[in-house]
Amino acid sequence: MSTRARFPDDFRWGVATAAYQIEGATTEDGRGESIWDRFSHTPGRVLGGDTGDVACDHYHRWRDDVALMAELGVGAYRFSIAWPRVLPEGRGRVNPQGLGFYDRLVDALLEAGIRPFPTLYHWDLPQVLEDAGGWPARATAEAFAEYASAVASRLGDRVTDWFTINEPWVVTQLGYVLGLHAPGRAEPAVGPAVAHHLLVAHGLAVERIRAACPRARVGIVLNLDPMEPRSLHPADVAEARLHDASMNRWYLDPISGRDYPREVTELLEWDRREVRPGDMEIIATPIDRLGVNYYRRQVVAAASVTDEQRPLPWTQAGPRFTEMGWEVYPPGLYDLLRRLHCEYDFAEYLITENGAAFPDPAPVGGRVSDPERVAYLRAHLLAVHRAIGDGVPVGGYFVWSLLDNFEWAFGYSKRFGIVHVDFADQTRTWKDSAAWYRDVATNGSVS
Ligand code: FCB
Repeated sequence: MSTRARFPDDFRWGVATAAYQIEGATTEDGRGESIWDRFSHTPGRVLGGDTGDVACDHYHRWRDDVALMAELGVGAYRFSIAWPRVLPEGRGRVNPQGLGFYDRLVDALLEAGIRPFPTLYHWDLPQVLEDAGGWPARATAEAFAEYASAVASRLGDRVTDWFTINEPWVVTQLGYVLGLHAPGRAEPAVGPAVAHHLLVAHGLAVERIRAACPRARVGIVLNLDPMEPRSLHPADVAEARLHDASMNRWYLDPISGRDYPREVTELLEWDRREVRPGDMEIIATPIDRLGVNYYRRQVVAAASVTDEQRPLPWTQAGPRFTEMGWEVYPPGLYDLLRRLHCEYDFAEYLITENGAAFPDPAPVGGRVSDPERVAYLRAHLLAVHRAIGDGVPVGGYFVWSLLDNFEWAFGYSKRFGIVHVDFADQTRTWKDSAAWYRDVATNGSVS
């Protein structure tokens, strides 16, 4: 029996991208170097030696891409602004051509009836700021506040929906602790400082955006993975709690006015020397909504326990995984939204990213068959619908991603788009998921 899940009339149907993943044109119109330019041009850092030099060439094809979104019937677009385009030296001088690009993009979106949801930081720090210390240095947070002001003063007459920082956990862990992302520093000792400065940067920017744009609705975007213990053995449960505290609560708690989870600060032996008086209040500046990026859950097992010691039942990940190796687990999104609503006090949630990479076939006859992606999106949207039905205020959903794009350390090897991109000639071809999503967005329901 087919079900039909109708969403609220004002629910926002969107797609998402990020600057470095789609724009290309990395040396044009006065753009400064970003840490991702430097990183991707360093041999051995990105799979296949791929870089974002051209990516989806969106910097030149943005008009077509806006038209594509209009055809898709989406009413909202989450994109990011490249800090080094706007402030090539990281702070100080504003590059009018860089800001002009986003100014024109915003106008075109509004003209097409698509609401812009810019994110100010989706990982492309100006290289000069990294050279001056990067996120372990407090000055980077202060520079971010200036950058936020410059952008909001220019676009704030038309843009009301803002996100400050995308996935601070990823910036901290992959960028500075493990070194798998730009700037490629494997320095675990700086982790807490990086995370703290990202959150201070967020709080300062919320104030600056509101000062420039009193109608603004501002949020931060967190990647949140539910942590499921492998069994109810006390060691598995404790390990799952610790994972939850270090990945999820480390960010959720301070932005909600609580302190950093003590079990994590103790484990890291962090002396909190970076926390200045007033910082926790800045971080807890009330936000209008939380952006939730959901891709998977994690099943957590304590290393000290053997399977023979575990009581039944065991939780087993799978059976389905995406090409990233991430478990396909739609109920995790429902559980996560309910948990957020019960344990925190955010006025609204937007699903700012959800989607999947699968090994899609090449286009045939102007289409790409991607049934697994359709099934993935459908199941996750039904989970969102169920959470809304329970009373969780979820106001919108953005598919990751509009286009196949530069998937960070994986280069172009992982395709998340609902629209296929031929990177040799930049042809865009709708996948079946795009046609499916157009129907969903147009009808406001999933069947
Ligand atoms: C998220 C990132 C986004 C994209 C997806 C697959 O962590 O925010 O840019 O790479 O993962």
